[in-house]
Amino acid sequence: MKIITRQEADIHKGPLILVNRQHKIMYEIPGELVAVEENILLERQAATLLEQLMKEIGGWSSIVPVSGFRTMAEQQKIWDDTLRASGLEFTRTYVAAPGCSEHQTGLAIDLGLRQDHIDFICPQFPDTGICGKFRKLAADYGFILRYPAGKEQITGIGHEPWHFRYVGIPHARIMEVSGMTLEEYIPWLQQFDSPLHPYCIRLSGRAVYISYIPVSQPLTRIEIPDNAPYMLSGNNVNGFILTQWSK
Ligand code: DAL
Ligand code: ZN
Repeated sequence: MKIITRQEADIHKGPLILVNRQHKIMYEIPGELVAVEENILLERQAATLLEQLMKEIGGWSSIVPVSGFRTMAEQQKIWDDTLRASGLEFTRTYVAAPGCSEHQTGLAIDLGLRQDHIDFICPQFPDTGICGKFRKLAADYGFILRYPAGKEQITGIGHEPWHFRYVGIPHARIMEVSGMTLEEYIPWLQQFDSPLHPYCIRLSGRAVYISYIPVSQPLTRIEIPDNAPYMLSGNNVNGFILTQWSK
């Protein structure tokens, strides 16, 4: 076993952070950003998995990245412009308030069908054809449809068929199969509050263990088995999510 330590502020970093009206982003640039296309940036791991998925389906010939990482100033401008053009109700439905947008994390990407006119706020991303193919495989590459139909009251955002969020492969799979949004998944994980009693799933013949670790001040100490791959992410609410793969 080895012990790793995390500071309280680290709960605001990592691929499982919940960012919404109630839980604001705490870091302007939370991770390492790379270009998916000129002027479209994503967090490195999210970009790598997106590339792999696009390669698998030959996606880039028909799909364009419309919006990736946004600074606070960019989100503010999108909010202001949309408010002026389309009013408050539309803006609150389809644009997160500055400081509350997943785009500020570098973990979210808006995708649109390649065509002459692409709507920047609501790009077309149908269920059929190449977009349907992307949608079917998204969870296998760690992406979730972040704002599904029927969950508007929970996410606080309208149905956005074009907005995908990277959370990592086991988590995307669990969320897709269970139908949980990130607003539901983060509290649900809190029942697995000991690495001794984790949630366990099997993926590609390998066991994956997931547990929630409440934050303790000022340092949280976490025991990790030697030589086993793991991923530790803050949840941006009250602790960390530890994901471990069997050796
Ligand atoms: N369209 C999503 C909600 C955003 O602005 O982050
Ligand atoms: Zn978006």
